[in-house]
Amino acid sequence: MKPGPGSVSVIGMGYVGLCTSAAFASKGIKTVGIDIDEKRIEQIRQGRAPLYEPQLDSMLKKAVKKRLLTATNDISQAAYTSSTFLTVGTPSRKDGSIDLTSIERAAEELGTALSEKQSYHLVIVKSTVIPGTTNRIVNPILAKSSSKTIGTNLGLCANPEFLKEGTAINDTLHPDKIVIGANDKKSANTLKQLYMRFYGKNLPTVILTSPETAELVKYASNAFLATKVSFINTIANIAQSIPGVDVNQIVEAIGRDPRIGPLFLKAGPGYGGSCFHKDLQAIINFSENLGYSPLLLRATEGTNEQQAEKVVELVEKLTGPLEQKRIAVLGLAFKKDTDDIREAASLRVINLLMKKKGPIIVAYDPLAVPNARRLLTESVEFAQDERSALKGADCCIVMTEWNQFKKLRAKDYLALMRTPNLVDARRLYDPKEYESLNFAGVGIGPQE
Ligand code: UDX
Repeated sequence: MKPGPGSVSVIGMGYVGLCTSAAFASKGIKTVGIDIDEKRIEQIRQGRAPLYEPQLDSMLKKAVKKRLLTATNDISQAAYTSSTFLTVGTPSRKDGSIDLTSIERAAEELGTALSEKQSYHLVIVKSTVIPGTTNRIVNPILAKSSSKTIGTNLGLCANPEFLKEGTAINDTLHPDKIVIGANDKKSANTLKQLYMRFYGKNLPTVILTSPETAELVKYASNAFLATKVSFINTIANIAQSIPGVDVNQIVEAIGRDPRIGPLFLKAGPGYGGSCFHKDLQAIINFSENLGYSPLLLRATEGTNEQQAEKVVELVEKLTGPLEQKRIAVLGLAFKKDTDDIREAASLRVINLLMKKKGPIIVAYDPLAVPNARRLLTESVEFAQDERSALKGADCCIVMTEWNQFKKLRAKDYLALMRTPNLVDARRLYDPKEYESLNFAGVGIGPQE
């Protein structure tokens, strides 16, 4: 069955592509998901999400059952839809620069698929790409392989995505803005109309820009958020040396200033995830190639890298030399409610611990152990649950803010551990309730 006018296709069934597809289908818009990975396509056809994300599984199931979402590895199917979102990955190369191979290939194959099409088709670059990619790379590739002139019967927009893992569906259904970067009115209007069908009366603010501005908005957003985290971790590290100071109270105070705000100022072990590090590296590299060295963004990344050392310092302060010490690491995912360990702070901390002489590391995470097993060497033991991880441990580091870890009380730590040293790298606990342990937390000054 051909999807027909008004339908959309999405190339790249990763996080962004899957959530976008499921969300469009949930609004009754016929959607075709396209990916080269046959296993992934088969899973989607069966209505199963190939990655963990709350709400995604049930949404996919419904959409597939109603035949509003179909999946294929045949890119030529895109021609039977009216618009195609490109949501393929844009990973980092070794030097930090962006690798655009997937987007170039997708653009070329899509152009070929569209070459025979008579009616108007809109192509939307949703992948995170450095400024200039839509106009200088995607545009000429599409034009050549489709033999069409962009802006006439083939439209092109940049339209970045701001969804967060763990709340991706909600973020897609309720974004705080939609940014549309286009060179011509028809492309911009066609995409706006598609979003009007999607959001109806609740259409978020639409900001119309050039493609380059839209592309840079995404980097500005991630760079700012990452900088907020590194900023508060810097304050936390200063606070940590001053008796009686707690960074959380500092945030409570400064967050009331509307110019600052309270969000994204939680001190911790440093940011992780698939975007912040990759996007900062890409924009730093891009900027340097333009002849401008963005010192602030370099410092954001440097501070984040250093934060893992700060966590290990807290451990050593409590335990002394680590030889033969059993260290329990609670949490491996880069944040709660995901199985994703890409760039997770837990990995940086574990790698630093492994460089020290002789600690025994036992780790537990409610979802991320299978992913962690693939990355970590055999020198890390994996426990079945948090309590088994704590059994006989000489120190525990809370690395991810999972709700189930919050339920552990001081008496649980005292009963299970050999030596009750607790490093709260996520500030999950109220220090007052854990005074019976040897407790250290990021951003808490020493006891007087
Ligand atoms: C991020 C952006 O938020 C999103 O808009 C973009 O589209 C993709 O990148 P995500 O990677 O899912 O989303 O995670 P996010 O919730 O932003 O957290 C990133 C990292 O920062 C996590 O490791 C988190 O634990 C850490 N963080 C966040 C802090 O340490 N403190 C905070 O106050 C907030």
